[in-house]
Amino acid sequence: MTNNIFYPHKEIFKHPEFKNMCEYEDKVKEFEKDYEGTWAKLAKEKLTWFKDFDKTLDESNAPFYKWFVNGKINVSYQCIDRHLETKKNQAAIIWEGDNGEKKVYTYLDLYKETNKFANLLKSFGVTKGDRVVLYMPMIPEATFAMLACARIGAIHSVVFGGFSAEALKDRILDAKAKIVITADGAFRKGKPYMLKPVVDKALEGVECVEKVIVVERNNEDIKWNERDVSYNELIQSQSSKCEAEIMDSEDPLFLLYTSGSTGKPKGVQHSTAGYILWAQLTMEWVFDLKPNDTYWCTADIGWITGHTYIVYGPLAAGGTTLMFEGVLTYPDSGRAWKMIEEHRVNQFYTAPTAIRLLHKMGANEPKKYDLSSLRILGTVGEPIDPPAWKWYYEEVGQNRCSIVDTWWQTETGGHMITPLPSATPIKPGCATFPLPGIFAEIIDENGNKMESDEKGLLCITKPWPSMIRTIWGDSERFVNSYFGTAKKDGKPVYFSGDGAIYDEDGYIWITGRVDDVINVSGHRMGTAEIEASIQKHPDVAEVAVVGKPDEITGEAIFAYIVLKNSENLGEEVELIKALNNIVKRDIGNIAKISDVVFVPGLPKTRSGKVMRRILRAIAKGEEIKQDTSTLEDPSVVEAIINAVK
Ligand code: WTA
Repeated sequence: MTNNIFYPHKEIFKHPEFKNMCEYEDKVKEFEKDYEGTWAKLAKEKLTWFKDFDKTLDESNAPFYKWFVNGKINVSYQCIDRHLETKKNQAAIIWEGDNGEKKVYTYLDLYKETNKFANLLKSFGVTKGDRVVLYMPMIPEATFAMLACARIGAIHSVVFGGFSAEALKDRILDAKAKIVITADGAFRKGKPYMLKPVVDKALEGVECVEKVIVVERNNEDIKWNERDVSYNELIQSQSSKCEAEIMDSEDPLFLLYTSGSTGKPKGVQHSTAGYILWAQLTMEWVFDLKPNDTYWCTADIGWITGHTYIVYGPLAAGGTTLMFEGVLTYPDSGRAWKMIEEHRVNQFYTAPTAIRLLHKMGANEPKKYDLSSLRILGTVGEPIDPPAWKWYYEEVGQNRCSIVDTWWQTETGGHMITPLPSATPIKPGCATFPLPGIFAEIIDENGNKMESDEKGLLCITKPWPSMIRTIWGDSERFVNSYFGTAKKDGKPVYFSGDGAIYDEDGYIWITGRVDDVINVSGHRMGTAEIEASIQKHPDVAEVAVVGKPDEITGEAIFAYIVLKNSENLGEEVELIKALNNIVKRDIGNIAKISDVVFVPGLPKTRSGKVMRRILRAIAKGEEIKQDTSTLEDPSVVEAIINAVK
């Protein structure tokens, strides 16, 4: 784990606020001395308030914390209007299509498009607090739609375009959405693909949705149902002025569904003021975003990274955000580098999976392009292995750029643990230290700080402005999921679900999830969700799913299946196909099972609990060192090992 190579930054730039570790430590101390006062100062300095807040933090109903109590603000105003005086003609969004087509929207254009979209939503009776689901490709209209919701106070819930109709339906119903915004389709690797038919299927029998707004992107023939309307037809007649709704600091800005260790995905609810403050501040702190910078985050807007670091963060900070419809390796493995060269990208933010793939497909490709505009390289979503880190640093960053390995989650809203570029001495593959204001600690269940090299629970022991406020419609699950595991000084604290270790220099190394969540290509998936889906096949008696290490995707889905009738094993190939189809139907293409092993039984304790640790070890090909004598039937372990062979 501990790798002592420190990569010194070549001093190509100095962070204006954190020139060195002393300045970082000073800021940390400022928060330690006066937690609320420091946050209040930042909130006043960075945000444009319609009315000041009365109190910085209300802890009276913990863990339902309230920040910037009674403040009035609007996120779309923060992202657009307040920039108009100085950067009306500056590019806010640069968009590149799959086929290389380019579009530029200035802040003034963004203002007009957002307002028109907001007026369109209003024309359908959407008001403050209504839920709007987006099932969109990576096109500029997706950003307009998100900001339009924020403008009128509607709560958006973006569902990643790779989720299936079933998964989309679940999310629409859980949020009781009034409107769905989608596109006919989009382009991927030179070919059109369709989204609208998925929405049609998802909406069968769904009554809460009143209108489906369809952006016609690829002009494919689609079926128009009664509640469908064409964005392209209606948007032209909308006024480009729409007053920003006055929102309370604590009004929900959006929901984003994410997987947990049990049950169905949960609607993580984020706030207005606290969220946008941290989105903006981390853009400035971690990406050192300057007004003339062009910044590129390769995530999809369907994930939290897309929300905070394609849309809200860069726009609130007044930068230029590059949005890309296509795939980094199409038409060839030089696409990403070509785009960086062409757009003179200053900050590039992507996932370790993408880095490993780009490395594998074209280790020498970056050399062929002029990447001298790059200053900061970021990674997110999963631990980055030192070889991938090294290639990123040496070949992409040409031994010159700072790498920020950012650890955070859907629930945290923004970065939590990350190096500060140019200030933090880096160790490859390490997220390093918590940001100032974030009290991330590795503790045991009783709040005792772990010694170095001892694995513990990664917790955030003080509330922070951009934290999850609740799980939509299930506050009990919110409390249990996040505040039911660890306590500090007798008070429940936020537990991330990740394990972590301090090394002897106090650096934080993330070791990955300690719950039943797996991370495939940086996508979070609950093993319980996948199991529930596989279990629907009539031949399946029992199933347990674990993550197995994978060279490219980080983890892959490994399923142990007990059949009702083992004679079916003759049709193994067909059966595996059928199982994959069910999972594809329930969740989507992102949940492809990589290994299926039919086993005679699962290793269970006498109380009937499946010992996943054993299954994880077997999937990894590790020797079983743990005591199996407490199992109901210890012989099952041997049988499983043989089946895997
Ligand atoms: C993992 C993505 C190691 C972690 C922003 C976390 C990471 C989960 C890192 C959240 C990192 C994220 N190093 N692991 N830099 N960043 N993770 O909600 O397990 O999609 O709990 O948010 O990804 O995934 P989520």
